[in-house]
Amino acid sequence: MRIIVEKNYEAMSKRAAEEIAKVVNNKPNCVLGLATGSTPEGLYKELISLNKEEKVDFSKVTSVNLDEYVGLSGEHPQSYRYFMNTNLFNHINIDKSRTFVPNGLVKDIEEECKRYDERINELGGIDIQLLGIGNNGHIGFNEPSEFLYMGTHLTGLAESTIEANSRFFDSMDEVPKKAITMGLGGIMKAKKILLIANGEKKAEIIAKLVEGKISTQIPASILQVHHDVTIIVDEAAASLIKK
Ligand code: F6R
Repeated sequence: MRIIVEKNYEAMSKRAAEEIAKVVNNKPNCVLGLATGSTPEGLYKELISLNKEEKVDFSKVTSVNLDEYVGLSGEHPQSYRYFMNTNLFNHINIDKSRTFVPNGLVKDIEEECKRYDERINELGGIDIQLLGIGNNGHIGFNEPSEFLYMGTHLTGLAESTIEANSRFFDSMDEVPKKAITMGLGGIMKAKKILLIANGEKKAEIIAKLVEGKISTQIPASILQVHHDVTIIVDEAAASLIKK
């Protein structure tokens, strides 16, 4: 794993955006695996700037997102489709019909998951997968558990995740308890992985990810066996790494 420590959130976001822009510039019709959450907001702002300055062109890019809440339509302000449109897609020259986010409203979730994985395969796989990390070590919504899943699947969210997500909803009742998420197999098949994290709150899990054992209780730890992982963190998130 390549670990890059940047001074602060802005520097982390800039550096991560450069990594993604490099992939797009080397392969204009690449497949980007994207994530939502607070962590990538700055990175997406950087990508928007790079696109406006004509330093990166998304016109031939396809994107696939990691996850979506079950029960929220793409118009719901807390859905991940809405997040992606408002934080990135509406502001860059990507063809929206080539941006894929799991559909959280489908009746047949199993079929949706199967189709999602088939689509990624048909696209030739993901060139770079962007990841955030949950305080509990989840990536996508692959939560700590006795078992991990290969493919895209329906998952219940961990209590700590529901709690963390509640900051975006008016009441606890409104926080979705289920999501469709890409599985760890899907994530691990990406040619490159870029994980970003910032702030003191992520320091403990980043130290475990980088220096701890591989365990299903820390789903992100499986990244230790991927051949091309870059972790970009700010100093606060790196503060508990020993070596
Ligand atoms: C989001 C996702 C999650 C987040 C993680 C960190 O698509 O898959 O795994 O990356 O929960 O969220 P933030 O960035 O809000 O701390």
